Amino acid sequence: MKAAVMYQKNGMPQYTDFPEPTVQHEDELLIFMKAAALKHVDKSRATGKHYSTQNDINHAEVIGGDGVGVLENDKRVYAIGVSGMIAEKALIEKVRMVPLPDDIDDVTAAALPNAVIGSAIGLRYKANIKRGETVLINGATGFTGKMAVQVAKYYGAKKIIVTGRNKESLQSLLALGADEIVSVNQNDEAFVAQIKKVNHITPIDIIIDYLWGHTAELILSCLKGNGMFTHKTRFVFIGSVTGDTIQLSAANLRSVNLQLSGSGLGSWAKDEVQALLTEILPEMFKLAAEHKLIVDTISIPLKDIERLWNMNVPPGKRLVITI
Ligand SMILES: NC(=O)c1ccc[n+]([C@@H]2O[C@H](COP(=O)([O-])OP(=O)(O)OC[C@H]3O[C@@H](n4cnc5c(N)ncnc54)[C@H](OP(=O)(O)O)[C@@H]3O)[C@@H](O)[C@H]2O)c1
Repeated sequence: MKAAVMYQKNGMPQYTDFPEPTVQHEDELLIFMKAAALKHVDKSRATGKHYSTQNDINHAEVIGGDGVGVLENDKRVYAIGVSGMIAEKALIEKVRMVPLPDDIDDVTAAALPNAVIGSAIGLRYKANIKRGETVLINGATGFTGKMAVQVAKYYGAKKIIVTGRNKESLQSLLALGADEIVSVNQNDEAFVAQIKKVNHITPIDIIIDYLWGHTAELILSCLKGNGMFTHKTRFVFIGSVTGDTIQLSAANLRSVNLQLSGSGLGSWAKDEVQALLTEILPEMFKLAAEHKLIVDTISIPLKDIERLWNMNVPPGKRLVITI
């Protein structure tokens, strides 16, 4: 079969022939792939930079963690792969697939899940969002941030504050449900003053963070108390686009009613993953099929993977490989 294969962790994937996977257990199925999104996690796992692959041995491997395809019984599903999914065929587990509504196209269905995982799980299971709450999304201009704005709105957020770098992308978030924009392209004093003002007028209940690094430090500093009662804020860290570490002063952490958590591979309970597959993703696929979720994609055929591996994906869009 044709596949995108990584031979060296520090290399580039190649479009090449690769042995077809074969079903090993009765709980596995063969899937004929149609589309697979190429996300940060796929790239960092393929290159051995992700924390879940840092101890992996270098060997030829098909890349891609999930995608959309057709089973031998002709049913179209989204699935998480046992084998790499950016290939003509892949192996999946029966318990890790979601049937797709007819009205959603392959590319949209392939693009959606990772952003739902990176938004809905954080909002529901880490932050326990309630209707009427105020949510700040740090780094909301990316594909996952845009989904977070829409999902937070769908879950009943009363006020959504978004931060980001790209001016046009930030503006476009207003149409998706954001109420207030904070540019990260201003000096620290102005950024802090704007967040403090918002937090004073409508205390922030939930912070969903895709950036970490300096802006996360600044936002956390805005919550610092002075020894009096403070509003409880649930900070959920999801992506580290601008840095792997932050400095957080003891006084800052001690002075505020803060719940600090992360959401990523390894941080979810089994029943949360089960609910993702049986409740959250089916609901989100239905919303997207009804055009109630905006999912911006750009697609390229599998044969172009090597040439376009390092392409600049337009802001807020997800790159999807069609097979
Ligand atoms: N843990 C999970 O379950 C999970 C799930 C999904 C995603 N994620 C992670 O979340 C992060 C965002 O994912 P994504 O899909 O939204 O990626 P994306 O579509 O590529 O967006 C990248 C985002 O980073 C911003 N950015 C890049 N460099 C920046 C800088 N120097 N300063 C400020 N902002 C900067 C971009 O802002 P502009 O467009 O405004 O320039 C954009 O908002 C990634 O780290 C990803 O791995 C985690």
